Amino acid sequence: MKIAIMGAMREEIAPILEHLESYKTLEHAGNIFYTGHYGGHELVLAYSKIGKVFSAITASVMCERFGIDALLFSGVAGGISPELKIGDLIMASQLCQHDVDIVAFGHPYGFIPEGTLMVPTDPALRSLASEVAIDMGIDLYEGIIATGDQFVASSERKSWIHETFNADALEMEGGSVACVCHNFGVPCFVLRAISDTANGEASEDFDAFLQTSAAVSATFILAMVHRLGH
Ligand code: ADE
Repeated sequence: MKIAIMGAMREEIAPILEHLESYKTLEHAGNIFYTGHYGGHELVLAYSKIGKVFSAITASVMCERFGIDALLFSGVAGGISPELKIGDLIMASQLCQHDVDIVAFGHPYGFIPEGTLMVPTDPALRSLASEVAIDMGIDLYEGIIATGDQFVASSERKSWIHETFNADALEMEGGSVACVCHNFGVPCFVLRAISDTANGEASEDFDAFLQTSAAVSATFILAMVHRLGH
């Protein structure tokens, strides 16, 4: 299989790149794409830069230009569910865009006409992840992830996102990447390890836990790649 692995930040992709014996690079559309092999699969890796627009560019190029069979997103998120502690893993069942607001025209928050409020991820990739988690003895949470072009560092905003979308975690790229994959018909999986809990201490926690949480997510993604059929 040809598998894309994406992150938003260099720190989210670096622990994966370290595991490739060798790779080539290709610069295109403001990104560096790293191509190599792992676990008997062809891989293409990139970090997009932060946010919905940059992540949509990277995911689109991966789908259109690299002919990928699946896209796995690895990175960190702010936890909403009180069950999620820093370092815990969540896979998205579905994702939404919490910052979309055309409520003035009678639409619900997050909804764009001819789109859907929630975009689901690939059920087969989710079941594979559940099996991998059992084998590794790791707790893997499954829930709704809300995406927006905001670093959320406020209990009020976090509660609003929870109440409006029933979201368990939030971040800044998963919803756009899932939307791109959905439109290209590419199976998508979004995994995040919690770096902070999106409250008043979020920016300090993010700085403190970005690297360790990114590594937790990356390790799990590599285990999934090992288990993917050829
Ligand atoms: N990614 C990790 N933590 C985040 C937060 N608090 N807000 C948005 N994206 C994040």
